[in-house]
Order: sequence, then structure tokens, then C-alpha cells
Amino acid sequence: MVEKQVLLEVSELRKYYPISRGIFRRVAGYVKAVDGVSFSVNQGEVVGLIGESGCGKTTTGRCILRAITPTSGSILFHNGKAQDVTAMNRDELRDYRRNAQMIFQDPYSSLNPRMSVLEIVGEALYVNGVARGRALEDRVRVLMSQVGLKPEHMRRFPHAFSGGQRQRIGIARALALEPKLIVADEPTSALDVSIQAQIINLLQNLQKTLGLTYLLIAHDLSVIRHFSNRVVVLYVGQACEVSDTEELFRAPRHPYTEALLSAVPKPDPKRRGNRIVLGGEVPDPAAAPLGCKFHPRCPYSQEVCRTELPPMIEVSEDHFASCHFSETLKLRAV
Ligand SMILES: Nc1ncnc2c1ncn2[C@@H]1O[C@H](COP(=O)(O)OP(=O)(O)OP(=O)(O)O)[C@@H](O)[C@H]1O
Ligand SMILES: [Mg+2]
Repeated sequence: MVEKQVLLEVSELRKYYPISRGIFRRVAGYVKAVDGVSFSVNQGEVVGLIGESGCGKTTTGRCILRAITPTSGSILFHNGKAQDVTAMNRDELRDYRRNAQMIFQDPYSSLNPRMSVLEIVGEALYVNGVARGRALEDRVRVLMSQVGLKPEHMRRFPHAFSGGQRQRIGIARALALEPKLIVADEPTSALDVSIQAQIINLLQNLQKTLGLTYLLIAHDLSVIRHFSNRVVVLYVGQACEVSDTEELFRAPRHPYTEALLSAVPKPDPKRRGNRIVLGGEVPDPAAAPLGCKFHPRCPYSQEVCRTELPPMIEVSEDHFASCHFSETLKLRAV
């Protein structure tokens, strides 16, 4: 077996948004969007990030790319040497951003309608001084065929393309600087069902041919199961289970994971795509319950769950869960 090499190490990541009230804008509390998340991503691996709406998936992804600055915690990126993404200066960040790119959920709003595909895909190459003129066009041509678009269409504007094709443009843009890590935030949930599989297949092929590493945020558990090697389950800003994908689906160790696996996704007309909907409500991240955050919705909860936050423990090799009863509960798999 090949030795696993860690590419990204997220430790105790927190992102709090202050809530201010009154005429003096006094800080009255915090939205704890991400509240102490730790996990790692190995080189060449696909790690899935799942959880209901509002659990902090996007916030985690944006912190990792330093699109937003975390409140605390560290994010080590191992590229020759280990560097903390949260402590990088401007030059270091510029280098890092060549190595870590994002694919967005909505290919309609994430592409500037006034820029041609050549400009959209080539912008980062130009800005970073990688290529200009003919060389830039040649590189964009290669990128377009890599994502299954016709290179001769590079002077067209986004409106001339379908949703699936636009997502391919977004993928080509993310690939332009030959990144190592890609954070894909629900890359298919804005697309028609018939197109989703094509985009997932494309991402999968690119991963194999280019040796990419993905952090894949998705609601569709079948996509996660099919595509990711490991899974991080988030609940109200905290990781409640981290496991190898097969094992997670075969033997979940946190009641929240059990609930997620048993839930049938419901189409959400407001946001397109399917959202996982469980009974009860996701707590407000500004006023989360004490103890285990899942206890008000947990069918197995006991007294200790109301008062004590369960620590993350290793329940079997490389399988972590934060439940007081993860050792004894017999949870349902799918
Ligand atoms: N800029 C912000 N200011 C205040 N609160 C925010 C901000 N951004 C996100 N939040 C809150 O943080 C929480 C986590 O949001 P986030 O977008 O990370 O969730 P998510 O898991 O990606 O959800 P979804 O599945 O709906 O995309 C939510 O309660 C959200 O309202
Ligand atoms: Mg999100």
C-alpha cells in the first residue's frame, strides 16, 4: 500500500460572526458558524463534507481557501513544507491560491456575464504572469478540451452555454493554475439531474489524470458514497463523525449520521437541488444547546447528553465519533 501523505490538516477551526444590537452596535453574541472542527485530507484523496443546511460546510470550505479569515484554529497545508494558511502573509497567500481552488455551486452567478470564456479561464494565468497572448490562448484551449468543451468556443460568453457547460467553464477556471487541492461546494446541486452525473464523472476523471485532491461538499449521499474516500459529518459547526466512506455507510457511530443516512432528500424549489430534511430543527448556531448539540433531536439521548459535550474519540482505526454512547449504540446502516 502507498504511504498516505497528508495534504491538509484542519485543527480546532472556528469562525464566529458577531451579532451586534442597539444604537451602539454592541456585540450581543456570536453566530458560531464553525465551532472547533478538526480533520485532515490526504494527498490524492476525496473527502466528503456532509450535513444539513446551515451546519457550516461552506464556511469551513471558505476558511480553508482563506476566502474568509477564521476566528481561530489552524489549517496546515503541506506542500514541501507545512504552512499555516491562517497565518500566511500576502505573498504566501498568492502562492497558496495557485495551489488551492474552488468550484462553486451556481454556474449561473459564478461566471461574469461580460467576460468571454477565454477571459474567464485565462484570467488567473494572466494575473499571475503565467502566460500571455498566444501562449495563454493555447493553454485555455487545452483546459477547454480537458473539461469537454470545444476550444473553438472560447470567444463566446457564458450566456451561450447550458448549465452543465457553464459548470465545465468553472472547472476549467479552477484548473488553470494546476492546483493541488480543489474545494467543490455542491458542484452539481444547481444542475439538472441528467447533467449531474456527467459533471461528477468529469471531476472523477480529472482527479485521476491530474492527481488532484478534493474536498467535496455535497448533499447527495449517493454522490458522496460513490466518489469520496472519507467523510466528515458536520452538525451545527462541529464534526460529529469522521470515517472511511464504506465504513460510515456500513456502520455509522453517531446518531446524527444514522439520521442523515436514513433521510430521503427533499427537493427545495428555492435553491434547486435536493436538501436533506430531518425531523425537528437545526439549532440556531448563535444559541446552540448545551452538552451534545444533537441531543434535542437524538432518539438515544440521556441525562449526560444535556450537560456534557462529548469528546471526539477514535471508535475504531481511523474512525472518529463524538457521542457519549458511540461504543454501545447499535445504529442502523443503509
Ligand atoms: N457572513 C455571515 N454572517 C453571519 N452568519 C453567517 C455568515 N455566513 C454564514 N453564516 C451562518 O453560519 C451558519 C453556517 O453557514 P454555512 O453557509 O457555512 O452553512 P452550509 O452548511 O454551507 O449550509 P447550506 O447547506 O445551506 O449551504 C449558518 O447559520 C449561516 O446563517
Ligand atoms: Mg453551503
